[in-house]
This record gives sequence, C-alpha cells and structure tokens, in this order.
Amino acid sequence: MGSLEMDGLEIEGGIPLHGDIYVSGAKNAALPLLATGLMCDGTLTLTHVPDLADTRLMIELLAHHGLDIGFQDGRVSMSGPATNMDAPYDLVSKMRASILVLGPLLARYGEARVSLPGGCAIGTRPVDLHIRAMQKLGATVELADGYIQARAPKGLTGNKIVFPFVSVGATENAMMAAACASGTSQIVNAAREPEIIDLADCLNAMGARITGQGTDTLTIEGVASLSTATHRVVADRVEAGTFIMAAAMTGGSLTVRDIIPHHLDVLFDVMRQTGVGIDIGDNFVTVSANGRYQAQNVETQPYPGFPTDLQAQFTAMMCLAEGVSQISETIFENRFMHVPELVRMGADISVDGRTAIIRGKDALLPAPVMATDLRASVSLVLAGLATTGTTSVSRIYHLDRGYAGLETKLGACGARLRRIHQS
Ligand code: EPZ
Repeated sequence: MGSLEMDGLEIEGGIPLHGDIYVSGAKNAALPLLATGLMCDGTLTLTHVPDLADTRLMIELLAHHGLDIGFQDGRVSMSGPATNMDAPYDLVSKMRASILVLGPLLARYGEARVSLPGGCAIGTRPVDLHIRAMQKLGATVELADGYIQARAPKGLTGNKIVFPFVSVGATENAMMAAACASGTSQIVNAAREPEIIDLADCLNAMGARITGQGTDTLTIEGVASLSTATHRVVADRVEAGTFIMAAAMTGGSLTVRDIIPHHLDVLFDVMRQTGVGIDIGDNFVTVSANGRYQAQNVETQPYPGFPTDLQAQFTAMMCLAEGVSQISETIFENRFMHVPELVRMGADISVDGRTAIIRGKDALLPAPVMATDLRASVSLVLAGLATTGTTSVSRIYHLDRGYAGLETKLGACGARLRRIHQS
C-alpha cells in the first residue's frame, strides 16, 4: 500500500515475534532487471517483482520511455521499442536508480539523455564511474543543464573497463551497455553482489554472453540484439537480514522463508557471535533469541562483506546488546542518519566520522522518531518493535520504497503496527 507524504507508523513494541515470514523479490535486483527491458527486441517478463514505490517508479519511467509495460501480481511484462530517450529530472530525482537506463538506452538506441540524479540523504552519490564506463565503450558524453547527454550513433565498442573501487550501479550499467556493444569487453574490479549475478543471468537468458558474474572480473561478448525471455527476481537478502534482526531484538523465534541462505553468510556469522541461534535450511533460516545478546563490531564492505544496507538495522540491534560495539560505514559518507533518532529513544551512540560507538543498554524508550532514508526508517521500526510502549515513526514513505507489505508480514508474527494517515 502506498504512503502519503506524512504517513506514520505506530508500533506497540515489546512483543517477541514468532512464526514464519516470507521474503519478497529483491528491490536492488528488480530495478536493473526492469531497465534491461529497454534492450529487449521481444518481450521481457519478470516474475517475483516486489510491489514497492521504487519498482513502480521504474515502471513509470520505462512507460515514459515508450515501453508497453504492465505489472500484475508480481509479474512485469514489457516490450519496446522505446520512443523517448529522455529520463526527466522529475522522475530521476525521486529515484536515483533511474540512472540505470543510461546503459540500456545507449546500447540499444545509441543515445540517452538522463538527468543527473543529485544527492540523497546518505551521500552525494556521484555517477562519474557510470559516465566513464560509457565513454570507455565509445560513447560521447556531455553534461549540460543537469543532464547527461550521451551518444553512440555508430553503436558501442567493446573495451576493458577498470573501476577504481567497487560500484554496484556502475557495474550494472557497464554490463548492460557492453552486452550489445560490438566486440568483447572486460569489467575489472566489478561488484560481486547477488543482484549482479541475477542481472547477468537475465541478460544471458535474453541472448547475452556474460561470464564471471559473482567474481571481480566480468567478460562480455557483445551480441547484436537481445530477445524474449522470462526471469524470476532473486530473493531480497536485505529484507531477509532485516527480519532476522527483528527476531533477535524482540527475543522471538522466526523462520524467514524464500531466501538464498549463502547470500547471508556474513550476517549469520555475526549473529552467531552475538549468541543468537541461527539454524539454516535449504531456503529458510530459523532465528531463536531470548532478547539478550553480545555486542559485536562490524565494518561494511562490498559483497560478500557485511552489507551497508544492513548497517542501520545492526546499529539498532547493538543499542540493546551487552557491551560496547563499533560499527564502521565504509561505503557511504553519511549513513548514520538513524543515529540521532535512536538517541531520542535513549540509545547511547557516539559517531566519529564513519564510525559509530554503541554502548548497549537494557532497554530503549518509546518516542516519536522520524525516518530519513529507507534503511534508517526500518532500523527505527526494529527499535520500536523491541521497545515496550508506543513508538511512532513519521515519513514512512521512505519505508514503502523498499519493504513490500511490512505491516502485514510482521503483523502475522505478532507485531502490533498501525499506519497513521497524517494530513
Ligand atoms: C546500490 O547503490 C544499491 N541500490 C544501494 O542500496 C546499496 O547501498 C549500494 O549499491 C551499495 O551496495 C541499488 O542497487 C538500486 P554504489 P549504488 O555505486 O549502485 C560511490 C538501498 O538501501 N560511487 O555501489 O548507487 C557511491 O557514492 C540502497 O537499497 C561513486 O563515487 O551504490 C558510494 O559511496 C541504498 N561514483 C560507493 O561508490 C559512482 O559513479 C558505492 O556506491 C558510483 C558510486
């Protein structure tokens, strides 16, 4: 259910969660997968697509480009051709992942005019690596009026692209563009996230020739065109990790289902070190907790390291740990926006640059708090679930960007959440 600008979520916390909870398809896989629809000469059908504000925004952008696209019961079918090469500021500014249409438009139509996405709460988030990758593949790129104007009238040409540091989105844009370049490309220092593997698998199902996905070096033999395919979006490891920590913080026992366990190896290891029980099945994990657990230090890293998208949730979890923990955020420069809100709930956290020091307490206090970005918002929900009394989280439109049916899923496990429509 979409949220109005000032919707809030009221949480009656202190209740251990019990039962089964099912994870949806991954937002961060669905968004690039949707963008590849621009490259398909036939019909691309995606299943297990999460119903989120962000996936609906990407669908709106693809329709703006002229695709014939429908979204029903988790299934998206889309076919071209694109008739409009512009990705306008009013759409791109709502969702940075819109930059992922750059590679597909260039590769398939030889031109793209994409608004620069601008920063967001967690950092300036430049797109210089995306632009440099397109230039490496032979495109000319100009920046004017806040737009990226890219052209490759004779098509793209395969080349070696070396990233100075890991970038998920730049790897995705480069991979999509190279898939239909003439000749072979190599992407060095590529991101290794499961969402990259999922994107490569979908492109290959459409006829691309990509190898090395999941390693730091991708080899892509360009093909002339991509054709009809159907692909199921990979499970959302970040949503799964969020639910795993919800069980730990509320002292409950949850079975998180429809996951790919090995995508969460690092989290499982950290959780076990805190003393939380983790029993792994073939496509589920059962978390058993009693509400008390030990502090642990983590440092966010590109996959397979500790995910930056689980940092805010883990910070909330450590507020109730026994001992002192240190959390370092190495990926984004400003991803501790949840800290001041957690402090309002009585957490003892001090931030020095990219490191937070957390002194665990026996309990937090219910309070009105404000969401600032997607993962910060869910960390506040977790804190509210673990706190006796009523916590209200405002601006939960941030939450609706990345969590499909959160109230329903958690409510089925005993959580008491109520959406408040604030005028
Ligand atoms: C993707 O963002 C995810 N979003 C993010 O998830 C995730 O946090 C991030 O990867 C890291 O895992 C989607 O997949 C839609 P990056 P992306 O390029 O691709 C810098 C969420 O909560 N950088 O790997 O934008 C950048 O500023 C979201 O679901 C450049 O300097 O992340 C950051 O510091 C948040 N220049 C670092 O690299 C560039 O051209 C890693 O960013 C590109 C990135």
